[in-house]
Amino acid sequence: MVFALEDIRLEGKKVLLRCDFNVPLKDGKIADPSRIDASLDTIRHVLKHGAAAVLCSHLGRPKGGPSAELSLKPVAQYLSRALGDEVPLAPDCVGEQTERLVESLEPGHALLLENLRFHREEEANDPGFSRSLAHGKHVYVNDAFGTAHRAHASTAGVAAFLQERAAGLLMMREIKALRALLENPARPYVAVLGGAKVSDKIGVIRNLMARVDAILVGGAMAYTFLKARGVEVGRSRLEADKIDLARGLMDEAGRRGVKFVLPCDHVVAAEAKADASGETVTEIPPDKMALDIGPRTVKEFVACLNGAKTVVWNGPLGFCEAPAFAKGTLKFGEALAAMPSVFSVLGGGDTAAAVKGRPWTARFSHISTGGGATLEFLEGLELPGIKALER
Ligand code: 3PG
Repeated sequence: MVFALEDIRLEGKKVLLRCDFNVPLKDGKIADPSRIDASLDTIRHVLKHGAAAVLCSHLGRPKGGPSAELSLKPVAQYLSRALGDEVPLAPDCVGEQTERLVESLEPGHALLLENLRFHREEEANDPGFSRSLAHGKHVYVNDAFGTAHRAHASTAGVAAFLQERAAGLLMMREIKALRALLENPARPYVAVLGGAKVSDKIGVIRNLMARVDAILVGGAMAYTFLKARGVEVGRSRLEADKIDLARGLMDEAGRRGVKFVLPCDHVVAAEAKADASGETVTEIPPDKMALDIGPRTVKEFVACLNGAKTVVWNGPLGFCEAPAFAKGTLKFGEALAAMPSVFSVLGGGDTAAAVKGRPWTARFSHISTGGGATLEFLEGLELPGIKALER
């Protein structure tokens, strides 16, 4: 079990609060602030309990040196507005100038450190860098679930230098929801998997296979499975080197009595273009590629949820970047959201992005903020960022 934030006396302390503010940017502006919003509860909790919050995060992959485009400045501005109190941005995450800012930070206020990955030592999990990050702080709180699969200085190494440590409120919600999918989930239990590649999901399929009653596969990865079943898939995206593996996974499902459901109709087009229009077919023509599940498949997938108590959904069921191919994902999502007695968990950044802004998304039991971290958790791997918070 990890230490909980509620167990720590925060008053008068300086808290190093690792968040995942790795948000998408467009023209220097935050395109989707969901990950920042998801940590606001934790930040407010720390401030309300009389501590000073020293926030830190990475943004993008700057390759170990400063870059103006990957500054956390837009995040500092967003936080200032969201918290109704100015959150200054320190010029760096370590060093004398930053230490002075940390020292003068008053209880109830927050400071944001500049992008951790401007230092190579962050990703190298360098002990000296971890020590510098810990300098002048009393408590380490990690709320960055999305980065929990990385053994970096701010997610793993730093815990050795701050004895008082805990999972933030978001981190704890993520751990509880995802654990419930692996430890004694209520059954019937259905896994819905989509996205581009079978290779990304092999570990997840293997780990869930022993737990679920049915696996529904959509998205581009479904076509490697269909090919393995001998179905003609036209020019659909295919991982030719994974066809045997796909067959093996379906055979294993058969041996275990797990229903393995693939699309029976498809929305196809000549190319995966944002402005392409689709045509619904049951047989994919040789010159077309499948870009979404068709209405009969949506119906069949929804029917498979009948009576389910637990549903995990990872990966869009179509090429959702284009509205013409997002319908399958949205129709399925809406139907799942309307099932109040199902414990429903959406994982992966792309799945969350595909259903974002719909009035029904709030009805899911949990939408994970993780991409790679969620997948690794579902694969049953130990995440260094969680391990570092264990009692
Ligand atoms: C993510 O977006 O998945 C996390 O913020 C981790 O980012 P990374 O893949 O660059 O380590």
